[in-house]
Amino acid sequence: MSVVVFPFRTEDHQVAIDNITTAAGHHRVDNVVCVGFEREATYEAIDRAIPNIESSTGTEVSLILQERIGSLRPGKGDGMNTALRFFLQRSDSDRIHFYDTDITSFTAEWIDKAEAAADGGYDVVRHYFPRSSTDAMITWMITRTGFAIMSPESELPLIEQPLGGELLFTRRAVERLVADERVRAQSDWGIDTLYTFATVHYGFSVAETYIPRGKIHKMYGSLTDLQTMLVECFAAIQSLRGLSMPTGTRHDVERPAGVPPGVKQTVAYDVEETIQLLAADWTPGQESLLALFPPAVRDGMLESRIYPRFSYMDDRAWFETYAVLLDHFRKNDPDWEALLFKLWIARVLQYTISDALRGYDHALAHLQEMIDRYRMLAR
Ligand code: DGY
Repeated sequence: MSVVVFPFRTEDHQVAIDNITTAAGHHRVDNVVCVGFEREATYEAIDRAIPNIESSTGTEVSLILQERIGSLRPGKGDGMNTALRFFLQRSDSDRIHFYDTDITSFTAEWIDKAEAAADGGYDVVRHYFPRSSTDAMITWMITRTGFAIMSPESELPLIEQPLGGELLFTRRAVERLVADERVRAQSDWGIDTLYTFATVHYGFSVAETYIPRGKIHKMYGSLTDLQTMLVECFAAIQSLRGLSMPTGTRHDVERPAGVPPGVKQTVAYDVEETIQLLAADWTPGQESLLALFPPAVRDGMLESRIYPRFSYMDDRAWFETYAVLLDHFRKNDPDWEALLFKLWIARVLQYTISDALRGYDHALAHLQEMIDRYRMLAR
C-alpha cells in the first residue's frame, strides 16, 4: 500500500480538499498525509473536512505541521522531509507519493500511473507533463543546464522535470534520502534539486511517466515572483559541484503523447513587466561583478541599465555565464542575488523572443537541443 502526501501553504481550500479526497479514495492508498507550513485558514479548512473524507473513503487522513529539519530558509524542503520522516516512523506502507496541493487537474490516474511504474520495479517514479514554452524557465535555464554542465555523462541532465513535485519513492529510496545530510539540510526550494540529485547519486532506477493533460495551476506575473526560487535552485545546484555521479543507471521515460492546445498557447509570464526589470535597481556592487563575465555579456548588461537589452544572451553566452556563476556566485549577497536574477531574465527574454516566438514545437525542440549541446560542450 501507499501513502500520498500533499505539502501545502495557503491554497484554494476546495482544490486542496478535492485532491485529498481523490487520493484517499484510491484503492492503493492507506494514508493521506497533509503537511502544512503553519496553522492558517487552509489548515483549518482541511482539518474540518477530514472526518467527512475519512468516513466517505475509509482511508486515514493525517494533518501535520512541518518540522524544522533543515538549515536553510524553512520552506518546501522541510515540508517534504517531514513527510519522509513521518513515513518511516509512522507507516509501514511500501511507497510514498507527493503531489502539489494546487493542481486543479489532479485525478486518480496520477496515482495509477505511478503505482503501475513502481510495480515494474523502479525505485523512483517521476511524473512529467507538457508545460508552456515560456514556463519552466528555472527548470531549463538553471537546473537542466546545471546538471548538463556538471554531470554531462550521468542521467541527471536527462531527467525531464527535475524540479517536479509529483513523484513516488519506494521505502528503500526514502531510507537513503532521510539518511543523507545534504537532503535533510535543504529546507527551501532546493529540495527538488536535491531529491533528483540523490536519486541518481545513489543509483536508484527512475521511471518518468507522462501526464498528457498537464498540471493546471497558477501562472506568474512578472518573473519577480520566481526570484527566491531561482536563487535557491541555483544555490542548490552549486552546492553539488564535484560530487560523483554513477553512469548507466536504469532510467526510462514514457514517450510524450500529445500536448493540449491550452498549454501550447499559454504565455507563462508577463513579458512587458519583465523587460523593465533589466533596467531596475542596479548598484555599483552589481556593476563591478560584471567584470567577471564574458565581454559581450558584461557590455550588454551595462547597457541594460539605460535601455533593456538581451539579444547577446544566446545559448553559448548563457553556457559561459553559467560557468562564471558556478565559480563565483554567493548566496545571501544581495548584489550577487540581484545580478543572477537579471542575467537569468536576460536569458529568458532572449529565448522568448528568438525561439518561443516561433511556436511551441520549435521552442521545445530548441530547449532539448540546448541541453544536448551543453552536455557535449561540458564533456
Ligand atoms: C520551473 O522552472 O520549473 C519553475 O516551476 C518555474 O516555472
